[in-house]
Amino acid sequence: MRIQSFLECRRQLSLGAEKYSGGPMAVAQFRHIEVNPLSSSHAGAEVLGVDLRDGMKDSAVREELNRAFANHCVIAIRDQNLTAQQFYEVGEIFGDIFPQHNSRFSVPDCPLIHYISNQDKFEDGRIYIPGEGYHTDHSNDAVPPKATMLFAVKLPNTGGDTQFINMYRAYETLSEAMKKRIESLQCVHVYQSKYSERKLMALAGEKKTVVPTQVIHPLVRTHPVTGKKALYINPIRIESILGMDDGDAQNLLGELLEHSIDLSNEYRHKWRSGDVVIWDNRCLMHKANGDYPVEEVRYLYRLMVKGEAPV
Ligand code: SIN
Repeated sequence: MRIQSFLECRRQLSLGAEKYSGGPMAVAQFRHIEVNPLSSSHAGAEVLGVDLRDGMKDSAVREELNRAFANHCVIAIRDQNLTAQQFYEVGEIFGDIFPQHNSRFSVPDCPLIHYISNQDKFEDGRIYIPGEGYHTDHSNDAVPPKATMLFAVKLPNTGGDTQFINMYRAYETLSEAMKKRIESLQCVHVYQSKYSERKLMALAGEKKTVVPTQVIHPLVRTHPVTGKKALYINPIRIESILGMDDGDAQNLLGELLEHSIDLSNEYRHKWRSGDVVIWDNRCLMHKANGDYPVEEVRYLYRLMVKGEAPV
């Protein structure tokens, strides 16, 4: 009796999260995987009961993983054990793999997979923590990746969480006046904005000529799957707003950032060994935390999945 009501409660929680996100894929339940929301409402779910090495071949599992991803914006698929090559194949469940811009982080035997590590240093000897500061990935590309996926290979004993901000909610909670003010603004994204507080590692030599110098994307984008609007800001990459003085543009972007990073919009992922986490860059910002002892290694595999030009 008690077990039954526990399961029923879990089922309702899961359905509730699907109901929140709406959209065409929100109706059916999960039969091949277990999906448990991790934050009270808006983003983040864990996926249990699947070994991705088998799931790659099973179309029903693939469909459910894609649906969980669309419904929850970020999912953590627990208890996986993958080589770099297997991680690549898991990425293909969600789409074609996106070639990342800075090839200096390529994993040697599988170059489209990159690594995230706290062991790299800037030329001046400072430790480089990749992904610090809120951002959305590779928005300086004309067709940015729809998703980024990480696999935890080695984790520090404490800290190193990844924070996610739900940019649907950031948009929805703006005043009507602000929505009107920004509805048709277009932003210029570059590899590294001269206004960015966070400094990126310089591009590897051969990439300097390949990575676009600048691209233009709308400040508010519509998600191609859910049809919902989301704020599309990136403090590291946006250098200006078309038709606006740079000072005014930076003030506006700062105001939108402050509004977005409200705790009520956040899901904070606490990593477990074996987690494969995939998130949707079209409706989330994220950031890494370097808040753990420097001598403890944090090492993850990373890939990105091709997306669409933002509209
Ligand atoms: C990233 O920004 O892609 C890395 C996030 C993390 O290491 O937590």
